[in-house]
Amino acid sequence: MFEFSPDPDQPKSVLYDDLATAARALMEGERDAVANMANCAALLWQFLPDLNWAGFYRQVEGELVLGPFIGKPACIRIPSGQGVCGAALATGATQLVPDVHAFPGHIACDADSRSELVVPVMREGRVIAVIDLDSPLPARFDAEDAGGIERLAGFLAGHI
Ligand code: SME
Repeated sequence: MFEFSPDPDQPKSVLYDDLATAARALMEGERDAVANMANCAALLWQFLPDLNWAGFYRQVEGELVLGPFIGKPACIRIPSGQGVCGAALATGATQLVPDVHAFPGHIACDADSRSELVVPVMREGRVIAVIDLDSPLPARFDAEDAGGIERLAGFLAGHI
């Protein structure tokens, strides 16, 4: 059994340190990509307050295909360049979106979503997956969240 009890009131720097430690503990020695993405989605959901969707899209033959997640059922395939996730795939860059309604082409999988953070997982210069976080709060994510999730993505690159 894995027991993690994150305190959502601690500073984000501590929260993301604890998240990284938990991710390492869960994935050390495990190479199954689905298992690791599933546990990682659960960790994101447990550690980060005010989310309505947390999970993965995988890059399959140049488009994104839904992976393990927590939240409402979501669109299954996202072409490169479409929506926030497709922008992350096309550019290889983190997408920090304080207001999804202001993002051209945003794909609304859950009408409650107001802000979004999408971070690519890179291996050998290619996007192999993206981590997608949605929140019902406007401007839920800041640069510190982006940095924390980018760190997680760097670790995941060798485990999915
Ligand atoms: N909003 C995303 C689509 C995925 S859902 O949020 C789970 C986008 O615009 O790419």
